[in-house]
Amino acid sequence: MPHKKLIIAIDGYSSCGKSTVAKALARKLRLNYIDSGAMYRVVTWYFLRNNIPVPLPENLDLTEFDFEKVMNDVDITFKINPETHFSEIYLNGKNLENEIRSMEISENVSHVSAIKSVREKLVALQQKMQHHGGLVMDGRDIGTTVFPNADLKIFMVADPEIRAHRRYSELTAKGVKVTFEEVKRNVEGRDEEDTHRKISPLRKADDAIILDNSHLNFEEQLDFVISEIEKLKFVSRE
Ligand code: C5P
Repeated sequence: MPHKKLIIAIDGYSSCGKSTVAKALARKLRLNYIDSGAMYRVVTWYFLRNNIPVPLPENLDLTEFDFEKVMNDVDITFKINPETHFSEIYLNGKNLENEIRSMEISENVSHVSAIKSVREKLVALQQKMQHHGGLVMDGRDIGTTVFPNADLKIFMVADPEIRAHRRYSELTAKGVKVTFEEVKRNVEGRDEEDTHRKISPLRKADDAIILDNSHLNFEEQLDFVISEIEKLKFVSRE
């Protein structure tokens, strides 16, 4: 089957396991994998390290920050890690793949991702990535805004309590000092902000297929998506 230009969009709530499924799928189908959330995370890292207040105080004169200009100073690239064979994110040449997974970034990213100039620049970058071949991209607006014509759109959901437990285990396994309550508050807070922002809010595309993985193991999730791919009468775009 010619997978070359296949585009698979995986959207959903925070900590649903989107990236785990997306990476496995990309590996299986030999497609590029792009973590669009990492792009919003590196911009958040840049804002915090450059003293741009997040969230912007309401009484702040917006002209103080020309976000378009700020975004011109942000150069995001992905490079394949030769050991894992997955792409890792770089900001102005610095590898930030691990640093951007901290609670500090998680607590601020939804404010930054709601800013118009940020979204415009990142969406344009994401859309260009299709020119390098087929891809699996996960995020919040991939099926609705970035690739509305994606070949397959999956919308992942899971019980919020289960998602918070998964995220908590992931963070504590990495040695991050955090309480379950903090993680739960963050996961729920991001869902709330991401679904209610003005531009490209998180929502299921009309033609997306729901994957509720509350009680599915990894193999079951992958089987589900593969069976959806097999249903596609895929016609190469080349
Ligand atoms: O996927 P991840 O949890 O790393 O995403 C971090 C944040 O980036 C989300 O909570 C959301 O605010 C933002 N995001 C977005 N659009 C995307 C991907 C992520 O707004 N396509």
